[in-house]
Amino acid sequence: MSTFELVQVTDTHLSGSRAYFLDNWEVFVREMENDPPDLIINTGDVSLRGSEGADDLAFARAEMDRLASRVLVLPGNHDIGETPPDPRLGRPINDVRRRRWLKHFGDDKWVEDFGEWRLYGLNAQLFDSGLEAEAEQLAWFERALGEGQGRPGALFLHKPLYYKDPDDEVKILACLYPTGRRVLMELCRRYAIRFVASGHLHCYRTTRHQGIRMVWAPATAFINTRRKKRPPVRLKRCVGYLRYSFEGTSVRHALIEPDLFINHDTRNISKSLGSTIFLPPYPQRQWKEAAQ
Ligand SMILES: [Fe+2]
Ligand SMILES: [Fe+2]
Repeated sequence: MSTFELVQVTDTHLSGSRAYFLDNWEVFVREMENDPPDLIINTGDVSLRGSEGADDLAFARAEMDRLASRVLVLPGNHDIGETPPDPRLGRPINDVRRRRWLKHFGDDKWVEDFGEWRLYGLNAQLFDSGLEAEAEQLAWFERALGEGQGRPGALFLHKPLYYKDPDDEVKILACLYPTGRRVLMELCRRYAIRFVASGHLHCYRTTRHQGIRMVWAPATAFINTRRKKRPPVRLKRCVGYLRYSFEGTSVRHALIEPDLFINHDTRNISKSLGSTIFLPPYPQRQWKEAAQ
């Protein structure tokens, strides 16, 4: 029986010019050196401002390359833009933003066989985008699912499939829009995907729907307590990461909250600026000097 260890890290929000969230990241890099898993998956918002230009993507890429284990990366809304039309921030995903990602990180979807398992990674931002790549990704995913039939499957993507109710018809940016969700849920059901692991919400939660385990991984970068004091679902607001242990066809995961992680809360930033995308420059040099 084969065994392997996988770490899911997410919402690292790395930036060289706005180095607000590098302290927990450094702790994470050290933890991965001390106890390297077989694979690390970063489920997006790898950068803080990849949707603005190439600088943060290049910086985040270099940071991923520091990790001792092999890393697979997926894009989030901070990396390539939000589901169109994005009235909140005015930074929708488009071909220019997506091409920038592809240049730095390679393909935005992947499939990997590990032990008995088949792991799938998808670009969550493509759903309901209307881009040509949306239909291409879906066709590719269905082919990969068909070829992997018989293996237990796990799906990784930036956004959760749903927030509170899988049948909710309201469009919210916390999760996939209803149209994309329906298509993806149907594929997950048909091909017996065992669990779906996402980031984006900066909190930890695990639940189950129609036999599929839904896992929300916490961010390394920050929490935001401005978002509904009493959320309609049970969740844990914390910074951390997840460590999965696969043994044959079974899997379990643990929430890791390192002693040296600090629970940065962007509540004030969110109140005054609306998003961490608008944070003023705070270069890495300053951060390094302050750390000495
Ligand atoms: Fe995020
Ligand atoms: Fe996100």
